[in-house]
Amino acid sequence: KVLVFDFGAQYGQLIARRVRDLHVYSEIVPCDITADEVRAMNPAALILSGGPASVYAEDAPTIDPEVLNLGLPVLGFCYGHQTMAAVLGGEVSHSDIGEYGPATIERDRESALFNATPIEQTVWMSHRDSVSRAPEGFVVTSSTDVCPVASMECPERKLYSTQFHPEVRHTEYGQQILSNFLFNICGIEPTWTMDNLVETMSREIREKVGDDRVILALSGGVDSSVVAALGARAIGRQMTCVFINHGLLRKGEPEQVEEVFTKQFDVDFIHVHAEDRYAALLDGVTEPEEKRRIIGTQFWKEFFAVAQQLDGVKYLAQGTIYPDIIESGARKTGGKASTIKSHHNLIPFPEGVHFDLIEPLDHFFKDEVRELGLALGLPEHIVYRQPFPGPGLAIRIIGAVSPEKLEILKNADAIVREELDAYNARLFEATGERNSEHSCWQYFAVLPDIKSVGVMGDERTYQRPVIIRAVESSDAMTADWAKLPYEVLGKISSRIVAEVPGVNRVAYDITSKPPATIEWE
Ligand code: XMP
Repeated sequence: KVLVFDFGAQYGQLIARRVRDLHVYSEIVPCDITADEVRAMNPAALILSGGPASVYAEDAPTIDPEVLNLGLPVLGFCYGHQTMAAVLGGEVSHSDIGEYGPATIERDRESALFNATPIEQTVWMSHRDSVSRAPEGFVVTSSTDVCPVASMECPERKLYSTQFHPEVRHTEYGQQILSNFLFNICGIEPTWTMDNLVETMSREIREKVGDDRVILALSGGVDSSVVAALGARAIGRQMTCVFINHGLLRKGEPEQVEEVFTKQFDVDFIHVHAEDRYAALLDGVTEPEEKRRIIGTQFWKEFFAVAQQLDGVKYLAQGTIYPDIIESGARKTGGKASTIKSHHNLIPFPEGVHFDLIEPLDHFFKDEVRELGLALGLPEHIVYRQPFPGPGLAIRIIGAVSPEKLEILKNADAIVREELDAYNARLFEATGERNSEHSCWQYFAVLPDIKSVGVMGDERTYQRPVIIRAVESSDAMTADWAKLPYEVLGKISSRIVAEVPGVNRVAYDITSKPPATIEWE
């Protein structure tokens, strides 16, 4: 495996992704990890990420200098490049002219790192400081007009670094440079493929679980579904999947989940019909946070009620993914890998109840989880399912939830999804990209707590409006309202009014996030 030392940039994750795209397993570690800890992890190579600090600043993150003496190949980018220079006795200087965005480097000698790339090439720069003198034993392999040491290396010690960012797509030959490092220089084999992984992970789960039983809260979302499919492959009916139906899922969804995990995958599937209990608890509740609290608390109550009735359950499987782990720990606390699992305490185990956790996806990024899902044979409607909030439709009904409102929202939402699924499919066909520029990332209907006047036939109506929400985004942190063609919006509107009783008006939400949020509550 390759360890990516994280100096606090977002680049760390991106680097790990690029390495994995080349079928080499990589993991992010905090930059202050010691040489002994590195040795214990037995990596094949190290990559030092970029970062926002200045190497000579007080409190600037740095590495244990012994790390560079382990005899491992090392590749540093940007801040990692400067750190390498500073630690090994070169010089970094602050300049007033930064270099941001595309730049052209000119290579001035042969280098294995630049194998199969041209003498002049476009790279992505983002720095103010730069290396002004390479350490002893290093040679400079490229430069730009403002950056004398755009890359340097000491091939005898397999130490390489670049001021630019090969992990960024704008660096024309970035992926080639990375593969030169991993395959030609380090001699790593690209064996990290989804098919291999399914085999290895199943074996690991079987070995860990032995004859014990595993329980999983299956929501029907991508992550828990992939865990369920993996569990089915690894231990079959030793795994119980508990699907708690709170009645707030989208139309047809509970049936789909049940179908997949009873017909296609052989697990022990328990469908808990908690619709009435949730409806009673939510009756008259209008505050969004109160709805969330009730739904979240009841979820664990329902789950543990089932779990405690099953005999011999030792493990609780969870669909925790890598970004959850990185975000919950290492990065925020600046702590070491061992402290990063604090989010586990969030599971409210009842008094005297304890299960050991199994989190088979805790080293995967979201789209790797999807690939794994496909490799396991999960249907595309689950693997490419859009994000859906845990509290479900309850937070898309403004004000109190009632059976009548739920029925309206489910039907209207089904039409929005049907039409926009088709719209996305057309874009996918045209562009070959699943989340292409104008495809919708999340789309649904919202039911506000108002009525408005309309006219149908000769009669005045006084009924509910439905709001369409459709956004383009990649991570939900920011989002833009989707610039849907008028015909698509028009068709959704007329279908909803014609097909959903109780609705006489449709509006489209044209606010981005920020200032609005994606959901209405
Ligand atoms: P907002 O509305 O904050 O949503 O822009 C960002 C993303 O998070 C989802 N979301 C939730 N997911 N529980 C969840 O599991 C929640 O309470 C919740 N609220 C919002 C939302 O669907 C969007 O993808």
